[in-house]
Amino acid sequence: MQAPESPSSRRTAQGAGWGCREPGTFVELMPGTPPRFTWLRPSVLWASRNDVIAKWFGDPSDDVRRRWVAALREGDADPLRVVDRSEPEFSFLVVGDTGEGDKSQYAVVPGLLNIGAGTDFMVISSDVIYPTGSVNDYPDKFFRPYQGYPAPIYAIPGNHDWYDGLGGFMRVFFGLADQPEPSPWRGPFGRLARLLWRRPDRPDLAALDEARKMRSAPGQQADQPAPYWALDFPALRVVGIDTGIVGGIDREQAEWLRGVSAGPKPKLLITGKPIYVDGRHSPGPIEGGGTVDEIVRDPANHYVAAIGGDIHNYQRYPVQVDDRVIQYLVSGGGGAFMHATHTIPRQTLVDEGAFKCYPLRGDSLSFYSRLYGRRLRLRRLFELSPEEASAAIARRLDMEPTRQDREPVRPSLRARAVAVMLGVPRRHRTRRLRFPVRKVFQRFRSEAADWDTPPFFKSFLRLDVAGDRLRIRCFAATGCREHELEPPLEDDISISLAATAS
Ligand SMILES: [Fe+2]
Repeated sequence: MQAPESPSSRRTAQGAGWGCREPGTFVELMPGTPPRFTWLRPSVLWASRNDVIAKWFGDPSDDVRRRWVAALREGDADPLRVVDRSEPEFSFLVVGDTGEGDKSQYAVVPGLLNIGAGTDFMVISSDVIYPTGSVNDYPDKFFRPYQGYPAPIYAIPGNHDWYDGLGGFMRVFFGLADQPEPSPWRGPFGRLARLLWRRPDRPDLAALDEARKMRSAPGQQADQPAPYWALDFPALRVVGIDTGIVGGIDREQAEWLRGVSAGPKPKLLITGKPIYVDGRHSPGPIEGGGTVDEIVRDPANHYVAAIGGDIHNYQRYPVQVDDRVIQYLVSGGGGAFMHATHTIPRQTLVDEGAFKCYPLRGDSLSFYSRLYGRRLRLRRLFELSPEEASAAIARRLDMEPTRQDREPVRPSLRARAVAVMLGVPRRHRTRRLRFPVRKVFQRFRSEAADWDTPPFFKSFLRLDVAGDRLRIRCFAATGCREHELEPPLEDDISISLAATAS
């Protein structure tokens, strides 16, 4: 259980990082000339075009992934082997959607190193590198920020890592240089798709070799066999899958997933795309039929939890499946700009009281109201304090404010209007966004969402397996100095592994 003295956004506004007393020291970790990261720059949008090509012409990720795995097979070891680990008790970090290389990524690092002390490894769950997975972005978006983390880092790619055909990821993690060409497109449109498809950047090998020195200690090297992998501990098998650009997996990976998922050992899935997110169920299609979630739910496979990146916040859905509960988590708040939580409807898939998110919906609405107020130069119209925003959410969703450290306020007409404009849904209604809070920010975001001052509302997970229990804690990174020293604890669950394995 959470200690009474732990800071948390669920207890106080201070715990959310509002009214930061002192900014964090994370800026000292950043490169001398931090990369300017703006999604509004036409060159960046053009570089990200593979997302559009995959959706219009068909996603070639399955085909290209098969050929990457075939290339790995030419090495000494089987890339589809299960990695045996003997530790009966172990701990690790899960950090999602890290690689923007700006303040929001580096602000996570001090608390991560603090809470991650003594952990056996870290997993980056999707989008290791923005915007396009380029090999040349690894120095400042991977090696530098995590140079102080003494243990290995495993990774699963996200859609952004696939925007260069996974070329940067495969070169950095596996030393592969020969990029497979996408081949599934046919006819004149296929020729057009092939023509437009973005190829990997020409690598700056000297810079990459220099950067590798930042994580060159023997204890920092991971024995990751492939872009999808399984680590087998005596008490828990941790399985990572690669969901490409649009969220599905290929036949070969599915066959492997079914194989490593079978049997009584409790399992945890880490996936690029979350299975429950924003109040929706996205089971994850498999090439040729079936879904990833069918594998997770199959009682013979004994999954206890599934963690997905892609959406840049924290959400937890404890879903009743037959006679057991599977914890479905979103953990994509490890570096990139914050996705809104105030657009998440009141839950219908799980009990609203059991649903958790970070940032709280009220903090998310307050954050975006300030963002819009600033960008549109209409601060007096838009800006809502966390208390006003929280009251407007409570009214709209017909529920009590989660944080009750201050006298409750009545939402003004203005606060309610701003809530509607910024996409807070009505109770039990699917959301109808008035202003682009999610979709447009997804594409045109950081210029508008570039938020250089705390709170950043970032988060990461620490998981501990001890005895017959798996503990999962979500910690926040606000960018405030006090929270670097003592990261706010936003969620804390304990799962029995014994009941699962029996
Ligand atoms: Fe992402």
